[in-house]
Amino acid sequence: MAPPSAVDPAPVSNNPSSVVSAVKEGSNQSRLDGPLQYSGSLDEYKQFDVTSVIGREFPNLQLSQILNDDTKIRDLAILVSQRGVVFLRNQDINIEDQKILGQKLGELTGKPETSKLHRHALSNSKRGIAVDENGKLDDEVSVISSEQNRKFYKDRYNSKSKKLASLHWHADITFERIPSDYAILKIIKTPEDAGGDTLWASGYEAYDRLSPVFQELAEKITAVHNQPTFVEVQKKFGEDLIDEYRGAPENTGLDFQAEHPVVRTNPVTGWKSLFGAGGQVLKGWYNGVTERESEILKKYFNQLIFENHDLQVRFRWNENDLAIWDNRSVFHAATNDYDGKRQGNRVVSLGEKPYFDPSSVSRREALNLRD
Ligand code: SIN
Repeated sequence: MAPPSAVDPAPVSNNPSSVVSAVKEGSNQSRLDGPLQYSGSLDEYKQFDVTSVIGREFPNLQLSQILNDDTKIRDLAILVSQRGVVFLRNQDINIEDQKILGQKLGELTGKPETSKLHRHALSNSKRGIAVDENGKLDDEVSVISSEQNRKFYKDRYNSKSKKLASLHWHADITFERIPSDYAILKIIKTPEDAGGDTLWASGYEAYDRLSPVFQELAEKITAVHNQPTFVEVQKKFGEDLIDEYRGAPENTGLDFQAEHPVVRTNPVTGWKSLFGAGGQVLKGWYNGVTERESEILKKYFNQLIFENHDLQVRFRWNENDLAIWDNRSVFHAATNDYDGKRQGNRVVSLGEKPYFDPSSVSRREALNLRD
């Protein structure tokens, strides 16, 4: 049964074939004409909210059993967008089906036809790490590997690091002109010692914590997301990067910089989220303000995410556990507090070109939650 806090946003059609608009086909915009409503098709599965603000867990549902049911997959996508992140335990889904799921979540919720699965510039088949027991290499899977991270980013991915752990907060690949809607991470190897938890933070709630004056300011500005690290790794280790097509026609080149609205409307919920924050904006800047104001805003917006543990959720992984999150409206951070080996397969789907719709509402407004 769905818990009492299951949300019920503005009503629109529940028919999977009628939710997308034909008018916007061929563009890089969302094909939705308005937010989507959860139809209730997953209510038969045991589930609970992990915190009041973010996270839903399905302890028993097997994704492999619902992959061909478009109504259920669409409802799953809607729940991920509403709750920010959904956790599923001990999944038997294989990597090919994980990729199919990644593409379907976005397609069934109106992503542009030109948006496919992301091919990561650095974490791709060229690193030679297999995504399955048959030794398969795949550019559409970013292998999350403690061994690779320790090689490329020794000073950060190290249990003895003296750097702030909060530097790891980010949303995936926001430096791309067409960034991600959904990401699916299945952890297949947990560290032999302990640790390796992942945390997620709600961008919806971070927006809701701003005063109306600051909300108005944030809605007016854009941020340049900047990721110089891959080129540094290329130079230091001589690694080849993917500089051509990375899952959408716009995602090419080696600049790894993109300008996006600081407040982003999630087309699936219709809710506003703080988007222009996290690690990639730390290395970027805000447009429309002075350099000093930009630094002050970075500190403040990041503080909202890093220091409010009541808008975060922390997940302890067992082998084959899986998380699906909406990169448009949550940030996440891995915890590098272990010395053992940890590995997982991450499929990152590309969504629409980020936009801010002034008529969209905040999550608190939509759910009638009082300040
Ligand atoms: C990621 O940043 O997408 C990976 C998170 C993790 O390793 O837990």
